[in-house]
Amino acid sequence: MMLETLRGKRMMFVGDSLNRGQFVSFVCLLHQLIPEDQKSMQSFDHDSLTVFTAKEYNATIEFYWAPFLLESNSDNAVVHRISDRVVRKGSINKHGRHWKNVDIMVFNTYLWWMTGLNMKIFMLRWVKLNMDPKKTRVFFTTMSPSHQKSIDWGGEAGKNCYNETSMIEDPNYWGSDSRKSIMQVIGQVFKKSKVPITLLNITQLSSYRKDAHTSIYKKQWSPLTPEQLANPVSYADCVHWCLPGLQDTWNELLFAKLFYP
Ligand SMILES: *[C@@H]1O[C@H](CO)[C@@H](O)[C@H](O)[C@H]1NC(C)=O
Ligand SMILES: *[C@@H]1O[C@H](CO)[C@@H](O)[C@H](O)[C@H]1NC(C)=O
Ligand SMILES: *[C@@H]1O[C@H](CO)[C@@H](O)[C@H](O)[C@H]1NC(C)=O
Repeated sequence: MMLETLRGKRMMFVGDSLNRGQFVSFVCLLHQLIPEDQKSMQSFDHDSLTVFTAKEYNATIEFYWAPFLLESNSDNAVVHRISDRVVRKGSINKHGRHWKNVDIMVFNTYLWWMTGLNMKIFMLRWVKLNMDPKKTRVFFTTMSPSHQKSIDWGGEAGKNCYNETSMIEDPNYWGSDSRKSIMQVIGQVFKKSKVPITLLNITQLSSYRKDAHTSIYKKQWSPLTPEQLANPVSYADCVHWCLPGLQDTWNELLFAKLFYP
């Protein structure tokens, strides 16, 4: 059903490494249905753009790296580990021209949720000016929670998601990094937007999954020191998610919203 819907269309995920995870999950869910010689995966623009093609369907599912959505000094898709991040105000067109004509767009960036409201409103204005609501469905994934502080769920101080193997059972759980006030403001701003933007509200369902992060099992950028190796808590990644896993559920939600808006 999804592949038929994408026939002759471009779908694009835009954002940072968290959104790349959602893109990879999406491609994994679909590509197993496509014979080997009917699909391809290619990178362009110094890896800023990754394109999965389902040839028989003339459909592409793409990921565009833009961690702030606007132009920034973290724009290199490979080398972007910069401590002082700088964003150029009003520069959304630098990347935006790559998204202009897509049919389905899914935005998300973790850092975006950490910035002020002005940038969010700016992005909405850009969507309004540049996207044709008759042609494009725009989705926005809400903030992805992290599990950096086990005291949030009643664990020992100084620990994080490392060695966690079960879900948080408390249905009212809400981590300290997901600020409800920001979420509410965003919800209101989006409701007022002239261009319909569908929210994928994944924050709460993800916040239960302290067990679902890549933790110590991800590829490290540089070899770990003996001190780090002796203390796995120090290098466990409690931001990104394992695949297959939680992000497949985000995409099931996306699927549902696409067909039953
Ligand atoms: C393939 O899809 C593109 C849009 O992504 C469209 O412009 C083109 O006409 C399509 N080609 C065929 C043969 O349907
Ligand atoms: C991991 O958790 C298990 C069970 O909760 C515990 O027995 C073990 O000591 C923990 N390992 C480390 C390295 O913290
Ligand atoms: C997402 O859902 C949570 C409850 O699960 C709510 O508190 C929050 O305001 C919602 N976010 C938006 C942007 O609507």
